[in-house]
Amino acid sequence: MLRRAAKFEVTLNPTAPSLLAPMSAEPRQFLLDRALDEFVADLGALDEAAEAMVPGAARPRIDTAIDAAEPAVVDGTLLVSGQEVMQTWEAPLMRALARAVTTPGGAVLEIGFGLGLSAGFVQELGPARHVIVEANPQTAAVAEQWARTGGRRGVEIVTGRWQDTLAGLGRFDGVLFDTYPMDETEVDEYVMRDATFAEHFFAPAAAALTEGGAFTYYSNEIDSVSRRHQRALLRHFRTFAVEIVDGLRPPEDCSYWWAPSMAVIVARRPRRS
Ligand SMILES: C[S@@+](CC[C@H](N)C(=O)[O-])C[C@H]1O[C@@H](n2cnc3c(N)ncnc32)[C@H](O)[C@@H]1O
Repeated sequence: MLRRAAKFEVTLNPTAPSLLAPMSAEPRQFLLDRALDEFVADLGALDEAAEAMVPGAARPRIDTAIDAAEPAVVDGTLLVSGQEVMQTWEAPLMRALARAVTTPGGAVLEIGFGLGLSAGFVQELGPARHVIVEANPQTAAVAEQWARTGGRRGVEIVTGRWQDTLAGLGRFDGVLFDTYPMDETEVDEYVMRDATFAEHFFAPAAAALTEGGAFTYYSNEIDSVSRRHQRALLRHFRTFAVEIVDGLRPPEDCSYWWAPSMAVIVARRPRRS
């Protein structure tokens, strides 16, 4: 099976008769054609989207774990262990996440304080309880100071990795996940291999949500979410919505994102086993 597009061609060669068994010839061919067409459409859409992207730059390796390195804020960028962990151009995304996580009302759990942009937007929306888990001790100390600034409501800062601190925090009506890979092992497992970075947090998020609660995160998919990503979501949640946030302006040499859009996902109704 061959597909020729303007700038590439793709061949699919099933190597085992058991592929899509026990389908008879015609339905099997229909399913194979659809899978191949989907890939071709996806690569074509990516090619079009790339016209609006910035060139980007290579990301340095993480030499010290993110919770053991000293953070610095330089020109609106949170730098930790050589990584651009957070930049202010992400503000529209953070606003969308804050809206989503506070929509059910009640208690909000936020994972990752960073520059505190999403936390600030959450506070503007007046949550009853606002727990923020932050792994980097210096960033957590900044969060503590921020929490004591006048006008903040119901903020509790929890210092430590979510993996070590989540148990015992209870259930939440909204869960917002926005961390950064802790080390190169997490880059390899969660950025390079998973459908989307937040996937490793789907199970803990589902466990931390109340029945009517909303789990939100952003995904560096551009104008949709992939079937692979949807399948991963549906293993843990019964329903989800996608909002495309566009008009983003990452810098020309950004080391972690390049397109003017990203997808904000809101997943609901955890599947309880
Ligand atoms: C991208 S920033 C968060 C940005 C934030 N939403 C904002 O608006 O500024 C990621 C943060 O997650 C923290 N982090 C990374 N891994 C974590 C983990 N396992 N548990 C808790 N925090 C983590 C990092 O130290 C960093 O401060």
